[in-house]
Amino acid sequence: MARNLQSRRSFIKTGIAGSVALAAGGFPAMASQPSSSEAGRTAICTQGDLGVRIYSDKVKEPVKLMLISDTHLWMSDSREDPFREYSNRMSKAYNHTKHFQTLEETHPEEAFRKTLEIARKVAPDAIFHLGDLVSFPSEAGVEWAREQLDATGIPWYYVCGNHDWHYEGMEGTEIELRNEWTAKRLSTLFKGRNPLLYSVDVKGLKVVMLDDSVYEILPEQLSLFREEMKEDKPSLMMSHIPLYAPGFPVSYGCGHPDWNADTDRNYKIERRQRWPAGGHSETTFDFWKEVICSHKEHNLLATFAGHVHAQSSSLVDDWPQFTLKANLTGAYRIVEVLPIP
Ligand SMILES: [Fe+2]
Ligand SMILES: [Fe+2]
Repeated sequence: MARNLQSRRSFIKTGIAGSVALAAGGFPAMASQPSSSEAGRTAICTQGDLGVRIYSDKVKEPVKLMLISDTHLWMSDSREDPFREYSNRMSKAYNHTKHFQTLEETHPEEAFRKTLEIARKVAPDAIFHLGDLVSFPSEAGVEWAREQLDATGIPWYYVCGNHDWHYEGMEGTEIELRNEWTAKRLSTLFKGRNPLLYSVDVKGLKVVMLDDSVYEILPEQLSLFREEMKEDKPSLMMSHIPLYAPGFPVSYGCGHPDWNADTDRNYKIERRQRWPAGGHSETTFDFWKEVICSHKEHNLLATFAGHVHAQSSSLVDDWPQFTLKANLTGAYRIVEVLPIP
């Protein structure tokens, strides 16, 4: 199934050829193209450092999205005092950062504020934050971020990252801690939506927000995903942890065959439950296979993730995945989804 290098080459060629021909006003004829009348036709090209354009004949009107991930805000106030033993390490993790373009000194708060200034100028139809908004479930951090996002006047949506709900050293499984601290500290970011999986419609484009911040997919999430995909709409999916793609390390960990106790190098530092000896659940693998094998029938045009703090793109059996540089350096991505001219 996996043909990473070969696919990447053909992906790059198709993307470039597609973008050139489209600029001239049409979709390129590809006589050897397999029948795609049901799945529709797509072309993807990147725009400079930050842009991704996705053309699809399923899309009726242009949609522009701003994607942000891994801001890692670390501010706190006296409400955090009873929890300092659990947040101490991460509260110091990203205090000083360098801007991804200018290399000037910055920090997560400034990087986020400036990113939202750019959002006001770019005027996307919606902003999506893909998690690790905060480095620990800081009430002060969450409140500040929410105020900043609301002040843009642009609709915004959020999905959990593995640090957003994690107090290091606190007793409990990853799933228990996620449930507890998402409910206690992050619920205002979801505005009543299901934090585990929800979707929004942006001008006819469905965007599925999936919480895979424990690396695993729960049976409930797989069912919800299948329900969402029944709707005949062009879709994108966003999650915090990238899905496995051949050639990438276990940080691309949702569905990674090497994800298990032996490859978990950080559980002691992060003072959390070690990844299971047997690796992923069947449900997680079923989910991965469903995305890779059925993305065309599902009209799932691409998936996006954060967590790895690096920009990457990959193609596995025509399923494109993009990851984002961390916003703690000021980085973001603009994704345009466009009809084929
Ligand atoms: Fe992160
Ligand atoms: Fe993360």
